[in-house]
Amino acid sequence: MCGIVGFIGSQQAYPILIKGLKRLEYRGYDSAGVAMIENQQFNQYKCKGKVADLESLVKGKDVDGTVGIGHTRWATHGVPNDVNAHPHLSGDGQLALIHNGIIENYATLKEALIEDGHVFKSDTDTEVLVHFIEDIMAKTGSDLFEAVRVALCEVVGAYAIVVMDRRFPDRLVCAKKSSPLVIGIGTEGDYFIASDATPFIEYTKNVVYLEDEEVALIDRHSGLKIVTIQNQQKDPYIQELEMKLEAIEKGGYDSFMLKEIHEQPRSIYDSIRGRLNLNHGMLKMSGIDRHEEIWMNANRIIIVACGTSWHAGLVAEYLFEEFARIPTEVEYASEFRYRDPIIQPGDIVIAISQSGETADTLAAIELAKDKGAFIFGVCNVVGSTISRATHSGAYTHAGPEIGVASTKAFTAQVAVLYLIALSVADKRGTITKERLHRLMAELTSIPDKVEEVLKTNAQVETIAEIYKNHRNALYLGRGYSFPVALEGALKLKEISYIHAEGYPAAEMKHGPIALIDEEMPVFVIATQGHSYEKVVSNIQEVKARKGKIIAIVTAGDKTVSELADHSIEIPKTDDSLVPIVSVIPLQLLSYHVAVMRGCNVDQPRNLAKSVTVE
Ligand code: AGP
Repeated sequence: MCGIVGFIGSQQAYPILIKGLKRLEYRGYDSAGVAMIENQQFNQYKCKGKVADLESLVKGKDVDGTVGIGHTRWATHGVPNDVNAHPHLSGDGQLALIHNGIIENYATLKEALIEDGHVFKSDTDTEVLVHFIEDIMAKTGSDLFEAVRVALCEVVGAYAIVVMDRRFPDRLVCAKKSSPLVIGIGTEGDYFIASDATPFIEYTKNVVYLEDEEVALIDRHSGLKIVTIQNQQKDPYIQELEMKLEAIEKGGYDSFMLKEIHEQPRSIYDSIRGRLNLNHGMLKMSGIDRHEEIWMNANRIIIVACGTSWHAGLVAEYLFEEFARIPTEVEYASEFRYRDPIIQPGDIVIAISQSGETADTLAAIELAKDKGAFIFGVCNVVGSTISRATHSGAYTHAGPEIGVASTKAFTAQVAVLYLIALSVADKRGTITKERLHRLMAELTSIPDKVEEVLKTNAQVETIAEIYKNHRNALYLGRGYSFPVALEGALKLKEISYIHAEGYPAAEMKHGPIALIDEEMPVFVIATQGHSYEKVVSNIQEVKARKGKIIAIVTAGDKTVSELADHSIEIPKTDDSLVPIVSVIPLQLLSYHVAVMRGCNVDQPRNLAKSVTVE
């Protein structure tokens, strides 16, 4: 998820682009760049770092031009550095392009272009697209607008792009599919293009939202023209913008955390996109494929992580042992690094980290590496320190997570770890093809199931109202749901400051049951599956001591719903996928309780988004 902005009109473009990029920095902030056209030449500048770094780079330089494009990056392909930053130029230097999204078939396109003599400077999928457009213009003689349309007929993936040709400074071309893109129609022939309206909200409220697979030409003289990539003419539908700036950054939500909770159908989809294709029965995890032998001969997996990432690791322990039949241990990185752990040949260490900068996890990696382990990273931030410290890895592609309390990164981590476990199991022959395909299909259905669960938000808010002033809470789960109980408790603790503990449901009678009375809310993940009956009896144990039961149940469940004080229904899914779906109501619960207690949910006290110190 990156931020893109473009301008063509009567004013100097650069100040508009820079201000716009700062407003879009919540979308990505690891590198930035701008390009303006002046006298048919590009004034192009780009660098690693935040928009402020770009401003210092550009200081005193020529930034003239009344047409220009700007980009703030959230790396997916190619680590954040000056070369991989956008805009990217075509081989002949005539075209400049910015892009938000993922070109899934970029490798295939790149191969063909290299055979045609194209030379690439960066590791990005985006540079391939601008060379592809250049190639079509050269081979067909068509203009930029037509070449972009033709190129996009071949592209697989998500894109919001803006392209310009320095020989034709009166034109900008933009297009979108899946990634957001809005055009602002200003006064005096001014046009704005951006990922959302924040960059130009004070200039105009007249906007056109491009639909998927639409390409637009903005011509200084003839205005706006829209066609589909199948070349059907479309009339621009101009709407009046109602939202305020603040609201747009948060996508209309009151906080980044609530926005990120609601983004999960999309972020889970993005984490499996291009890695799973049911039609072809394809499961591709390149980070695994590249080291197949190591995974085939693996004797043990050790997962190191902290906080919410550790909980995702705990889910992965169940997945690797059930599907790949590899003994797996989950270690708190901070304990692992000082325990002089025993690492043996055939040990694989998986390090999980959203930020990729957590000091304890990094140190655990260095220690394991010194002891000869093969290190596999699962990170969200591309190019982060941890992603560069590992031998191989997989990114979660959840997009930037701004709220300190991790939500969408957790579900994306579990989805990616799920793909890794299935991929390894398939290679080691420890799972039948039939079961593999059934689980791949089930995983593909998860984004829709999460969409379904998000509809319980109002019910969850009502339950939060009842328990907002309680001082303690207990979370219980069994099997795959035990890590979810821990995660639910962590979410409540870190943003509402209520003391909460997660426990394996059966462990309760070995101590915590002493805490149970009418004042103790007990959240239980009680979905129908492997240990359902056991969980039902655990609930009866709590009820017998007058504890209040808030149960997460499978849609249509009768037994637990009758027992519980409140039950929140989630769609049926395989036991192994319940963690991704059942955690959603617990995220929402903690969010609403924190808001009702007047806490700052995006920046809770005493916490930081990335703990880069010991
Ligand atoms: C989770 O909500 C917290 N922000 C925290 O526990 C976090 O998960 C932990 O610090 C690990 O961070 P990482 O995933 O970036 O390594």
